[in-house]
Amino acid sequence: MCGIVGYIGDKQAQPVLFNCLARLEYRGYDSCGIAVAGSEVKVFKDAVRVKALEKVTPKLAGTLGIGHTRWATHGEPSRVNAHPHLDCPGKICVVHNGIINNYQKLRQKLARAGHHFVSETDTEVLPHLVEEYYDGNLEMAVSRALQEVEGSYAIVVLAVGNRELVIARRDSPIIVGLGDRENYIASDVPAILDYTSRVVYLEDNDIGVVTANSLQIKNGGAEVARKEHKISWTVEDAQKAGYEYFMLKEIHEQPKVIRDTIGGYVAEGEAVGLADSGDFDLGDVLILASGTSYHAALVGKYIIEELVRTPVRTELASEFNYCGCTSPRSVTIVVTQSGETADALKAMKRLKGEGCRVSVITNVVGSTASRLADRVIYTRAGPEISVAATKSFLAQLMALYWLALPYSKIDIRRLDSLITELRQLPGKVQQVLDREGSIAECAKQLAKFDNIFFVGRGINYPVALEGALKLKEISYIHAEGCAAGELKHGPFALLGKEVPVVAVVGNDNTYEAMLTSIKEVKARHSPVIAIVGNGDGEIEELVNTVISVPKVEPIFSPVVNTVALQLLAYYTAKERGCPIDFPRNLAKSVTVE
Ligand code: AGP
Repeated sequence: MCGIVGYIGDKQAQPVLFNCLARLEYRGYDSCGIAVAGSEVKVFKDAVRVKALEKVTPKLAGTLGIGHTRWATHGEPSRVNAHPHLDCPGKICVVHNGIINNYQKLRQKLARAGHHFVSETDTEVLPHLVEEYYDGNLEMAVSRALQEVEGSYAIVVLAVGNRELVIARRDSPIIVGLGDRENYIASDVPAILDYTSRVVYLEDNDIGVVTANSLQIKNGGAEVARKEHKISWTVEDAQKAGYEYFMLKEIHEQPKVIRDTIGGYVAEGEAVGLADSGDFDLGDVLILASGTSYHAALVGKYIIEELVRTPVRTELASEFNYCGCTSPRSVTIVVTQSGETADALKAMKRLKGEGCRVSVITNVVGSTASRLADRVIYTRAGPEISVAATKSFLAQLMALYWLALPYSKIDIRRLDSLITELRQLPGKVQQVLDREGSIAECAKQLAKFDNIFFVGRGINYPVALEGALKLKEISYIHAEGCAAGELKHGPFALLGKEVPVVAVVGNDNTYEAMLTSIKEVKARHSPVIAIVGNGDGEIEELVNTVISVPKVEPIFSPVVNTVALQLLAYYTAKERGCPIDFPRNLAKSVTVE
């Protein structure tokens, strides 16, 4: 997810572009750039934040320009990989948000035709492809070029000597902000609200030609009219797409995040199996991480042990640095959203020092972990602004499912049905999101308590840990995650009317034992909230409150159960008036040991 902008009018474009980009940094902030077209196109870009680039960019004369703030997916953050990208003669200039799945094929074809590429990005094929068809009619050249593109895109294209901007979209958003003798282009509304509140949204496969005084949109070659909307949001509201907090926005992004993460692996044919070449002995899989990523690693243990039937060790990165041993033949995987967590990086350096090949599952292209690792599996959650990790956790689970499936020792028909259900998970998650209201009601009760237990068994034990962490982080309630089977070995002493228990009940071989645990908890007078599959009358009779989630294959239950727990934590913290996105004493990326 990147931010793209464009301007054409009678103002100097440079300050407008920088101001609009600064409003879009929540979409990506690892590098940025602008291009201003005067007699020639001048491009300034670097792996810095928008404000930093603005400071060092000389005055560029011109009332037409485009800009970009990046969230790297292909090619790490650097000056050469930053956008805008140019064709060889520097006549065609493009900014892009999205992923071009067939870029390697297009690159080879264009290179054979004499085009020279300088970056590692997928995007750079676009200005070269447009150049192939450009004879002065930019709209036609862009339209022909896009017929060869597979994947998602929102683009703004300019050509030297051409007083217009051509824009297009497929599966990535782009809007036009209408002004008086000027027009603004952006990925999203926050960018242009300082200038106008009149907005037109392009739809998939639209191609638009924007001049200072006009906007013409075509779809499939035919002219189409798109409605003008009046926006009443503040800039900050708009960055959150109308959600009160980034956390709630990011929770609601999860169906798309699942599609993007799995879609990325499928599109790139990434058989991201457990071990790549070499003589790894599958007998020893070690997964390391911290915080929420550690809970994903623990779910990964259950996934891999069930599907691949090979033992998996999980270690807290911080503890691994004091003990833990590996052998160079171990499959070692580090999970880290930010790719900058000091404990995880220290563990990676130690593993590499001991001759291990280290794979990393990370969400940030170009992060230190991605550079340290021998192999990188990217999640595609996009930038996660809220300190409490939500969508990145689900994306990590998708990576772990995708890691294990190619090695699964299960019956091929079952494998097929699992892959089918994996593709249906976005819909199942949406069903949980649709129950937000009833979960918010339940949270109102929970917000009254100061001590809460979360319990689960099997693959839902780490989910209980994650539910407790989410609540702790943002509501400041003392919440403890615990394996349900461990309650009787101590925690029972703490139960009573003032200590509710949230039970995460899987529809698997742990069901009966969870039922027993719930009865034992009820016998000690603790109120019980159960997260359980639809229509479970037996549990309903037993517990105080039921949060029902769509039934899924047991191995996928962590996905739907976690979303319900994220919403429960969010609304409990909201009920307590907590600063949800930036809780006290925490940081999004913990870069100290
Ligand atoms: C989770 O909500 C927290 N932000 C924290 O526990 C986080 O998961 C942990 O610091 C690990 O971060 P990483 O995934 O970026 O390495």
